[in-house]
Amino acid sequence: MDILKKKILDEGKVLSESVLKVDSFLNHQIDPVLMKNIGEEFSARFKDAGITKIVTIESSGIAPATMTGLVMGVPVIFARKRRSLTLVDHLYSAEVHSFTKKETSEISISKDYINGDDVVLLMDDFLANGQAALGLVSIAEQAGAQIAGVGIVIEKGFQNGSSQLQERGIRVESLAIIKSLTDGKVNFK
Ligand code: G4P
Repeated sequence: MDILKKKILDEGKVLSESVLKVDSFLNHQIDPVLMKNIGEEFSARFKDAGITKIVTIESSGIAPATMTGLVMGVPVIFARKRRSLTLVDHLYSAEVHSFTKKETSEISISKDYINGDDVVLLMDDFLANGQAALGLVSIAEQAGAQIAGVGIVIEKGFQNGSSQLQERGIRVESLAIIKSLTDGKVNFK
């Protein structure tokens, strides 16, 4: 997706050989026009998949997922990383270990919003080692929902998230795939 790649090249900051900062349009400030384009792109890629719901994780997955839901005309559910005051039981949960942050968290979704009749598109802002996406896969499986695929805004192609998902037969669509972040430069696949 050229407009996204241009934005990454213009505004992304390479913090190390493995971390790209995109706070100006995705992870802190949000570019709504870019998010709308992202929503249209995912909608086009999954148009024949019969998707009934989009499932993402708070917080940075919510903006692209919401725009995709708007274009597709389906609801968007975000997994919570912390128990909320009103969301305490009747939950599907999964453990997600972040190799980047070296911490494990539990993500949860209410059983009210996903069930065996659903065909879900799982979405997130970044795909690194795939642990967050695999947590969403586990929740969809617990609910008996069919997984149409995983939609990712920026995939770090030098980490193994995509292969972990594809080994399980899951379709992965990434709008920008980064081959490397060497010498302070972003190289796309
Ligand atoms: P994984 O789920 O693919 O295994 O990813 P990992 O544990 O490595 O990443 C944990 C968090 O860091 C996630 O956000 C993920 O989106 C983000 N992340 C991973 N690599 C990068 C990167 O190169 N650049 C940026 N900007 N983010 C990265 P999170 O903690 O859930 O944060 P948020 O969604 O609340 O913003």
